[in-house]
Formats: sequence, C-alpha cells, structure tokens
Amino acid sequence: MHFPVYRPRRLRRTENLRRMIRETRLAVDNLVYPMFVMPGEKVKNPVGSMPGVYQFSVDQLLEEMKSVVDLKIPAVLLFGLPRRKDPEGSEAHAADGVVQQAVSAVKEKYPDLVVITDVCLCEYTSHGHCGLLQGHEVDNDSTLEVLAKVAVSHAESGADIVAPSDMMDGRVAVIRERLDETGFDRVAIMSYSAKYCSAFYGPFREAAESAPQFGDRRAYQMDVANGLEAIREVALDVDEGADIVMVKPALAYLDIIRLVREEFDLPIAAYNVSGEYAMIKAAAAQGWLDEERAMMETLIAIRRAGADLILTYFAKDAARLLQS
Ligand code: PBG
Repeated sequence: MHFPVYRPRRLRRTENLRRMIRETRLAVDNLVYPMFVMPGEKVKNPVGSMPGVYQFSVDQLLEEMKSVVDLKIPAVLLFGLPRRKDPEGSEAHAADGVVQQAVSAVKEKYPDLVVITDVCLCEYTSHGHCGLLQGHEVDNDSTLEVLAKVAVSHAESGADIVAPSDMMDGRVAVIRERLDETGFDRVAIMSYSAKYCSAFYGPFREAAESAPQFGDRRAYQMDVANGLEAIREVALDVDEGADIVMVKPALAYLDIIRLVREEFDLPIAAYNVSGEYAMIKAAAAQGWLDEERAMMETLIAIRRAGADLILTYFAKDAARLLQS
C-alpha cells in the first residue's frame, strides 16, 4: 500500500481519530515518585538544581505524601540523608535511621501506598562511594552483607520493595537470601540492573549529598558505550531473584530499555533521572521549551521504548495532567 491509496494523515485528522489508534498509554499507574528524607523537624529544603524537589524531614514528608496519595500515584521511592556519615555507612542500616523512620511513619498513615527504598551506601559513607573501601577501591564482596543489612532494616520498617542501586556484583542474591531468612519473603526486589556511570546524576548528588569525595563510579557502574553488557547484567539479576529490573538513566538509554524488553518478561522500570528533569526545568524556565509538552513527550517515549514503570520527579505534575 502506498500513496495515494494509503494516506497516513487520514487517521491523524482529529483528536478522536488519533486517540483511537494511539499505540502507547501513560497512566498514573506507571509512575513512581522519588523523594528525599532528612533528619530534623519542619524541614523542607528546596534542591536548587531540581525545582519542585525538596529534602523533607519526616513530618513534612507525611504532609507531602497526602498529595501523592490524592493524585493516586501508587508508589514512592525514598532516599535518606543521614545524621552522620562514616567510612562504613553504618547509618544506612540503623534501626532508627531516617529512612527507617520515614518508612514506618508513611506505612502507618498510608498502608496502601507502595513504599520502595533505595539500598545503597553512597549517601551514608564519608567518602561518598557506594560500597566499602579497600584502599581507594570499592570492595565488592565485603559490601554485600552491609547492603543486605540495609535491605533487611528497610523491610523491618515496612518497606514493600527494596531497590539496590550500588552496582556490586551478586548483591541481589545476598539480599534475597537475607530477606528470606529473616521472614521477609514477601518483600520484593527492584534491582537497578543496568545502571550506567552517567553525568545525568549530577543534580541528584546535590539532593542526596552523595557526591564521591575522590574519583568516580566508573569501576562499578556501567560504561556508557555498552549495550550487550546490559543484557548480561539483567540476566544475572533475574537469576539472583530480582522481581523488577531497572534501566537507568532513561533518555539516553531508550535503546537499552527496548533491548531488555525484547529479552526479558519481567516488569521493567526506567529511571528518568535528576539531570533529565533538570534539563527540562531549566529550558522551560528560560522559555525555551514548553514544560508540560516536553515532560509528557519524555514519559510517553520511555513507555514506548518498553518500560512498565517510570521513576520520575515529574510524577506529581504528570499525575495532575493525566487526571485533568
Ligand atoms: C545512589 C543513587 C544515585 C541515583 C539513584 N541512586 C546516584 C549515583 O549513583 O550517583 C541517581 C538518581 C538521579 O540522578 O535522579 N547510588
């Protein structure tokens, strides 16, 4: 079929025609809202590089959660800023740590909201790396038990899903084993499986105060140039017991999302990261982009690439639009 018999424009003529043949849908059901918790009371610090994003103390987080629940966003992802940092990141698994307190407070008030916790050490270590150091290198195997302790402490506080983002080899298996041993077989693992060493995490490191104090994360996060390796990373995590696998960042990695979609049948999450958010916000503030359109185009493109879930700082804005 070709022109003039087939005319693609026929089905683009009106909004109702376009609506009927639209291939990809974005729903509030697909969204996860990442949030930052810190110690103290009545704290709501704006993050300069991420307009609309704040560091909240637990009381303020609960306030904010009301609007998240009202907008019918099904899940939040919590990051913690600890009271103090040390080389071992021991606050990360403190029973009274800030994330642990936040999880139990949120679950008490909103038992149906799915609470996901980020499992990593970088916000908690004085050196800012995602694992324990041996010299100037992040040591893989000694980090695993610490990560598992973090995951179990989150589960004890009531987390529904734990999300390891550290990129140590073998962490999903150890976390799964420890969760099962401690009676948390119902707690799911969303693994940051294909997590790239990306410049687009820049604004997050301001929000989470987690920039490495020396060097970078190239020795554990994936090389930007690799695609096939993402399949191997995801396959490992699936084998080790991941329930949801993630590709991160999203926009420069839509090909990776598609690749993973074609190879695996597990739910796939994509993280529309801080730098992707900041770029749209900054351009919109200059009047160079239409913020709503750029946001919706971005989110639908991530869905079209094959993601089931999207972790995004735009979750509330998108939910508001989808419901209007
Ligand atoms: C922690 C972690 C990071 C992000 C999520 N978990 C930062 C990093 O790896 O440096 C980035 C999220 C974002 O940029 O929005 N390891």
